[in-house]
Amino acid sequence: MHETSKHLDENPGIICNNYLSEKMIITVAAFKGGVGKSTTALHLATYLQNKADTLLVDGDLNRSALDWSNRGSLPFKVADEKQGVSLAKLYEHIVIDTPARPEPSELKTIAKGCDLLVIPTTPDAIALAATLQMVDALKQLKTNYRILLTLIPPHPNKAGEEARTALEGAGLPIFKWGIRRLAVFQRAALEGVPVNAVKDSKAQIAWRCYAEIGKEILP
Ligand SMILES: Nc1ncnc2c1ncn2[C@@H]1O[C@H](COP(=O)(O)OP(=O)(O)OP(=O)(O)O)[C@@H](O)[C@H]1O
Ligand SMILES: [Mg+2]
Repeated sequence: MHETSKHLDENPGIICNNYLSEKMIITVAAFKGGVGKSTTALHLATYLQNKADTLLVDGDLNRSALDWSNRGSLPFKVADEKQGVSLAKLYEHIVIDTPARPEPSELKTIAKGCDLLVIPTTPDAIALAATLQMVDALKQLKTNYRILLTLIPPHPNKAGEEARTALEGAGLPIFKWGIRRLAVFQRAALEGVPVNAVKDSKAQIAWRCYAEIGKEILP
């Protein structure tokens, strides 16, 4: 285990500030499907690639990220889990996308094998309940995790704010920024590029959401 993992093991739920020159392993996982795991993994990899060579390991059985990269071009390397094992040492940062509903034994592997576990959740009751279940399952594992609100509907809908208030009220670690629901994310997936490479008036607004999350992880 490298220093970052050791430090984080001693400080579960806290993101430490000494990531700057450290290799980062970030896993994106959630109990519920369709909450933006693959979209999050892909855009965090885009952010980290600007810092150092980054590998996205596509552990999603639907092979979302691999499909995405086959459709267009991504600014970082994408590999499946088998290739990922041998490639990992060649990359500074690693982002791992996972399928929905991990088994308890899988959750343990997921939680222990990373420096930071990002848990995306949409701001609806079902996804929030799944997030609370996941947080509960992580308790014994001393995982360094942070919840990310995704697909936040536009004003005047208050679902995003209400979900944030509930999660913060429960004392759970949550990213300060959230990801807005914007159609340009779907266009990016279709074109096989990150959202900042789409020609669309909303592309930069959409990219900023993930860039701010990236800054919270690795300034
Ligand atoms: N912020 C967003 N705004 C609009 N659409 C989004 C956003 N994030 C993701 N989507 C879309 O929502 C759908 C689900 O996203 P994604 O595939 O990233 O979720 P997932 O959690 O990986 O799903 P699965 O559990 O099937 O692996 C996709 O069509 C994606 O393009
Ligand atoms: Mg996925």
